[in-house]
Amino acid sequence: MSKKPLAIVILAAGKGTRMKSPLPKVMHTLAGKPMISILIDEVARLKPAKIIVVTAPDMKELRELVKPHESVIQKEQNGTGDALKAALPALKGFAGNVLVLMGDEPFTSLDLLKSMAAYNGASAMAIVPPDPTGLGRMITDGDILVDIVEEKDCSPEQREIFVCNAGNYCFPAEKLTRWLTKLSNRNAQGEYYLTDLPKIAAADGVETKVFAVSIDYTWGVNDRAQLAEHEHIFQSRLREKFLKDGVSMQDPATVYFHHDTKIGANVHIEPNVWFGKGVVIGDNAHIKAFSHIEGATVGKNTTVGPMARLRPGAKIGNDVRIGNFVEIKNSTIGDRSKVSHLGYVGDCIMGDETNFGCGAITVNYDGFEKYQTVIGKGAMVGSNVNLIAPVQIDDGAFIAAGSTITENVPADALSVGRSRNEIREGWAAKFRKIKAQKKREAAKAAGKKVS
Ligand code: UD1
Ligand code: CA
Repeated sequence: MSKKPLAIVILAAGKGTRMKSPLPKVMHTLAGKPMISILIDEVARLKPAKIIVVTAPDMKELRELVKPHESVIQKEQNGTGDALKAALPALKGFAGNVLVLMGDEPFTSLDLLKSMAAYNGASAMAIVPPDPTGLGRMITDGDILVDIVEEKDCSPEQREIFVCNAGNYCFPAEKLTRWLTKLSNRNAQGEYYLTDLPKIAAADGVETKVFAVSIDYTWGVNDRAQLAEHEHIFQSRLREKFLKDGVSMQDPATVYFHHDTKIGANVHIEPNVWFGKGVVIGDNAHIKAFSHIEGATVGKNTTVGPMARLRPGAKIGNDVRIGNFVEIKNSTIGDRSKVSHLGYVGDCIMGDETNFGCGAITVNYDGFEKYQTVIGKGAMVGSNVNLIAPVQIDDGAFIAAGSTITENVPADALSVGRSRNEIREGWAAKFRKIKAQKKREAAKAAGKKVS
């Protein structure tokens, strides 16, 4: 086994036509993380001397995304072989092995890549997928790699080969320039194929070898259906990780995580919960069914949902209860407080042990600007209250149900902001009598029979 230095080249300049998307294909995400970032983070564990990403001229955002790694530009998308050629200037003076990976294949096998990197020769990774459609076929002799033939260039017999090209290769750097000049584009797609390199290597007297991997690892994303399949696998991995870490899920397949979701110990998650970017859930929390949580922090022993929505900037304290049909945005909820049913809390700082009643809302927006509501400790906001921000409710204040509050409320005061309740004895009976009489007279005038 050699201990040669290692460089990694990731090809990502392809048009990605089959995705039908203006976004570069490799920037499409799995659990919110761009595919290329998943691949880069994984292979960075091999501690390569450098990672070079091949991009198209118009992929400025991709070059930003992959920083601090180097990127190069392939001027025209003339195929995977041409793409590797574009990386040659960045490999100048590098002596060692070069792993060449496809940016549209976020999953790979680090163990196999390690073996390939340590191999003295040219190698490629093989898979046996359930459906080989669209993949190159491996022509092998034992574990010697003879050639890789693209499906479009296959003879009917070659098409029957089920060992396919995973799109992960390793080549000695010092030979690459010479081999790449030998590529031709006389093939079905008129492209310079990277897959011709093993054959060229063998003709140059260099050993070639196939490293086989199970289908679980890699086959690549060419269209949205394959993107969804990869999402499925990535989500399964996240779910397994959380289950192992002691998170309970009754139906894990219905819980969707973001790649950065952080969940504490002994948390219980009911079915059909969705986590977006930047969520942190504290120990012993209980997330009930159909909750939608994004950019939010949930404290210890807190209950959220069912059917609650926590939006970015929601910071929920410990032992809090957030109930059904409650939406919380950019707000801090103090420990032991309750927002139990049907409420909207936006741009609010709520102290500890406050009760925010059913149907109460903060009125935080006038169509132009957002305003803040501050509620102290131990306050009681009655049901169906409108708190017109900016407004401050001090500690222990009591807001009568149905109030519309436009003025600050001092500590321990009662604020009632609604019209008085009035009772008129016998009014309804009198009203019904008059109306019935009028109806009879109208019918008589129209010549109808009146009962
Ligand atoms: C390629 C392989 C095929 C293999 C499959 C595995 C070739 C000729 N074929 O086919 O044998 O089974 O991957 O997934 O290599 N790219 C560039 N510049 C280009 C063209 C492509 O950078 O001019 C990049 C793409 O961005 C992509 C990768 O190379 O990340 C692969 O290109 P793609 O067109 O998807 O190749 P496949 O048809 O999947
Ligand atoms: Ca591909």
